[in-house]
Amino acid sequence: MSNKTLAIIKPDAVRKNLVGQIITKITEAGFTIKGLRMIHLSTDSAKAFYEVHKERPFYNELVEFMTSGPCVPIALEKENAVADYRKLIGATDPAQAEEGTIRKLYADSKAENAVHGSDSDENAIIEIAHFFSRNDLV
Ligand code: CMP
Repeated sequence: MSNKTLAIIKPDAVRKNLVGQIITKITEAGFTIKGLRMIHLSTDSAKAFYEVHKERPFYNELVEFMTSGPCVPIALEKENAVADYRKLIGATDPAQAEEGTIRKLYADSKAENAVHGSDSDENAIIEIAHFFSRNDLV
């Protein structure tokens, strides 16, 4: 188990000034921040990050949304990081998310859902490397 995961505070949550509140939720849940930056994704970078979804009907909308403003990728560490972080953020669709989860609290829709989380240890490593070089991580 890698104990690492990649979070992204997405453009909708950045626009709503929720970066501080979301980071507080994450650190209060016991995650350690290993890397953090604020960037405005290019279309090519967003397309590459979400390549796995490229056949999905929402792919273009997803890329457009993720490039609509700055976002905050965060490399996180914790025992059982992938599963624990996904529990903390809740279901993709905020209407289905449990009370108290980040998406229940802050997301507007399935598309504009405030945060991203890696879905496996393997993808966590790939996704962290998308945003952070070795020297960017503590
Ligand atoms: P994320 O965890 O970043 O991974 C893939 C993203 O695709 C997901 O969060 C949503 O933002 C988006 N997504 C998933 N399903 C839909 C959908 N039906 N319509 C629009 N966007 C979606």
